[in-house]
Amino acid sequence: MPEKNLDSLDKIVSLSKARGFIFQSSDIYGGLAAVYDYGPLGVELKRNIQANWWKSMTQHHDNIVGVDAAIFMHPKVWEASGHVEGFNDPMIDDKQSKKRYRADMLIEQHIQKLRDKGKDDEADHLQEQLDTTGTRKGLCEDLYDIIMQEEIKAPESGAFDWTEVRQFNLMFKTHYGATSSGDEDAIYLRPETAQGIFVNFKNVMDTARVQIPFGIAQVGKAFRNEVVARQFVFRMREFEQMEMQYFVEPGNDEESYDNWLNSRIEWHKNLGIREENLRTVPHPEDKLAHYARAAADIQFNFPIGWQEVEGVHNRTDFDLTRHQEYSGKKMEYYDQKQQKRYTPYVIETSIGLDRCTLMVLCDAYREEEVDGDTRTVLKLHPKLAPTKVGIFPLIKKPELQELAKKIEFELRDEYNVLYDESGSIGKRYRRQDEAGTPFCVTVDFDGLEDNTVTIRYRDNMEQDRVSVDKLADVIRDGMKTWKPE
Ligand code: GAP
Repeated sequence: MPEKNLDSLDKIVSLSKARGFIFQSSDIYGGLAAVYDYGPLGVELKRNIQANWWKSMTQHHDNIVGVDAAIFMHPKVWEASGHVEGFNDPMIDDKQSKKRYRADMLIEQHIQKLRDKGKDDEADHLQEQLDTTGTRKGLCEDLYDIIMQEEIKAPESGAFDWTEVRQFNLMFKTHYGATSSGDEDAIYLRPETAQGIFVNFKNVMDTARVQIPFGIAQVGKAFRNEVVARQFVFRMREFEQMEMQYFVEPGNDEESYDNWLNSRIEWHKNLGIREENLRTVPHPEDKLAHYARAAADIQFNFPIGWQEVEGVHNRTDFDLTRHQEYSGKKMEYYDQKQQKRYTPYVIETSIGLDRCTLMVLCDAYREEEVDGDTRTVLKLHPKLAPTKVGIFPLIKKPELQELAKKIEFELRDEYNVLYDESGSIGKRYRRQDEAGTPFCVTVDFDGLEDNTVTIRYRDNMEQDRVSVDKLADVIRDGMKTWKPE
């Protein structure tokens, strides 16, 4: 059966809308850019991924506990974390089209164009200038000078009519309390969930009887006023993160970082993501975030190219030390065995739930030629599939409907099942293929005689005849033994 993987994000966007995975937010009002809603299938898929992550962190590790911190936090948190000062992108506006661009990205695109034309020496020289921005007049001024010197034009309008380069903070600001209006009451929507963990470090230590090394896991919303936000749920302004901070003794951080990086790649494979679509890319030292000593991206081969899905970072004692400094509260750990006090180092694993959902959809998407027709199918890992079993009476006859309903009733406690009696059996199978449903069960007249049904497997479309009494076991076995192909 000839098979094609995904070559464009557009197909996922269309399937998501048509089948109820993901919709544009406020669609009836023309949509809100870079914000999305999950539909009936999407919410199940996303929750299955989230539950899988949570279980792998908390249930599978006796030294990792969870928290659920609030989105609003004391404004000092973001001063301590460095986000007020450093969470900026250098932006430049095209005066003609009024469009805003990341200044460094414009230069990077220009360098790529030079390389495409075989002007490698020029490109290398410019790359060197870009790599040393901030060392001449200042970050914004240096970027502006390069754009002027190279006469880089606006990609969309073709104009060379720029404003100055300005730093643009990515945090959303709002006012707290009914009477507030000025900047002194301003607070931020959190741009990462991690700080909710750091500020609860002491609370958890004092109440959960944990000893170093231990971890704190959290899933929650984060908000960033992204400038370039045009790639569906890949880059959103409101999104969800699944983060875990693992507190270790300084000196054990490098080993722990390596272990977590390996274990996180295994997690991705266990989601059913094909190995050839995953890779790890360490950050070069000069590109590390302000808090990191080492960092690596786990990347997936999206239709838009290799892109980060998860980051693993060695954050050292940066955050705890800064919170100690800004709050005046001790953030140290007393090691009773060694009888010494220290500020722990932190290994962070940070993955975007929406981006991970997109990765799962892209990896599962296939188009296959079947009898001269194209079958679109999501070969999702059964544990992630929104619906596990489709249950169909062959035709709308009361005796078939009755047995099909009985099977639905028996399975629904264990699985998310769907009863469907509309349209031909072939159409019902195809609908479930597009939804990623791994098993379909059809009740026919023979079954009324010998208490059997047909089970049809999504991936290879093979069918078996099984006894109704064995159905749950067969499905359970199929869930366990599934492998990506
Ligand atoms: N606490 C560390 C941190 O937030 P990050 O690399 O900025 O690190 C971690 O973000 C993950 O969050 C990314 O790997 C990505 O999956 C997800 N993420 C970040 N910005 C996002 C956005 N605008 N839309 C969707 N997901 C995003």
